[in-house]
Amino acid sequence: MKLLVIGSGGREHALTWKLRESQLSEDVYCAPGNPGIAQEGECLPVDVKNPLAILEVAQQVQADLTVIGPEAPLVAGVVDEFEKAGLAIIGPSKAAARLEGSKIFAKQFMQRHGIPTARFLVAENFDDAIKALEILGTPVVIKADGLAAGKGVVVARDREQAEKALDEFMHQKTLGAAGERLVLEACLSGEEISFIIMTDGRGILPFSPAQDHKAIFDNDQGPNTGGMGAYSDDSILDERQREDIVRRIVAPTLAGMAAEGTPYRGFLYFGLMLTTSGPQVLEYNVRLGDPETQPTLVRLRSDFVDLLKAVREGTLAGLEAHWSPNPSVCVVLASKGYPGKPETGKQITGVEAAESLGGVKLFHAGTTFHDRQLLTAGGRVMGVTAIAQDLPSAIERAYAAVSKINFEGMQYRHDIGAKGVRRRTAGSGGGRSPRAAKRMPRSAKL
Ligand code: AMP
Ligand code: GLY
Repeated sequence: MKLLVIGSGGREHALTWKLRESQLSEDVYCAPGNPGIAQEGECLPVDVKNPLAILEVAQQVQADLTVIGPEAPLVAGVVDEFEKAGLAIIGPSKAAARLEGSKIFAKQFMQRHGIPTARFLVAENFDDAIKALEILGTPVVIKADGLAAGKGVVVARDREQAEKALDEFMHQKTLGAAGERLVLEACLSGEEISFIIMTDGRGILPFSPAQDHKAIFDNDQGPNTGGMGAYSDDSILDERQREDIVRRIVAPTLAGMAAEGTPYRGFLYFGLMLTTSGPQVLEYNVRLGDPETQPTLVRLRSDFVDLLKAVREGTLAGLEAHWSPNPSVCVVLASKGYPGKPETGKQITGVEAAESLGGVKLFHAGTTFHDRQLLTAGGRVMGVTAIAQDLPSAIERAYAAVSKINFEGMQYRHDIGAKGVRRRTAGSGGGRSPRAAKRMPRSAKL
């Protein structure tokens, strides 16, 4: 099969790498890709926000199947364009992609279908927003309705911070049309996890759970980013918690979408807060997570193309994916200035030395080749990903690889996976049986 991936980040590098491994893959293409992805398959230029331009690339390479990385083309209706043209694609229709494209739609949908989420009010204008603030009090979470590239959510501790955010979104229009309407919601507390599934609309195939690290600095300090690292480990959720999430959140979401005439197909990412009164939905993303995909796909042992074909053919129900029992960790290396304006054009060294370590894979994001030198080209530069027999070893491996890499102003978190180690030490969560642990190879194959 000829396979095409759309996007240019670490998530798309991991997707391209995994698809290339499949027995069923003949050629793998990526548009627009990046220098790391170019080592896995041919890269072609494309404007990812333009569904028709994506369709043109798929037709040009005669793709048998296209996988979309980022949300923008899905929300813009790329799947509908492919269906019209009779080309196979993985992802939700434009109508179903509103789960991410409009926070107001998502919250009202959850309300209609009794899906647990924080109490909220919708503000159509500044006066509404002030009234909502009075009702909800602080702390409060203010969310722009539309897509805002990770800049649309403010967790306001007090009234002053809340009014500042409202002023920025609604008066200064810092996010343009995306911030014209808002959701204000109660602030939840608990542990945040990423629960990602594949679905053909009926069958549900949950991925191994992952946890992102959104804040820029260690111990979840500083402003939120797109994600500074993630780990995937079975102990994040035990069997009972997983079943509870599927029963209370995943199944009603898919049933609700079908009942409303917009059945959901593709990847669906549930950003969840595990509160004392059970899991609650913080957000839906109509795609895979970045960086969650990197450590997750490193653990996938099933043929990924087989699973994607089952999504297309509606035969996912009853299929099981096989995962390595070994945990994995991805540490994101970011440029100075990120999550604000990043400094770019810095030479990156040590990539080969890092990749030569066993159980390590580097996924490129903001990199570029110039005069035969690898340079930084964005905020998140690459995700150093490692897998090992247990979480502390995977963390150690990932950071050993990180220590080989250098570029001016490089910043990264030093505590990726630490929450997982604390959870395991505390003995909560799922974990795996001592017997399963014995069967595990010391060093996992990548
Ligand atoms: P979202 O894009 O909706 O996931 O929001 C981005 C981040 O804001 C989430 O990853 C959470 O860390 C935080 N957040 C969103 N909603 C809430 C909430 N109701 N309570 C607490 N934190 C939240
Ligand atoms: N890692 C968060 C996201 O992909 O939205």
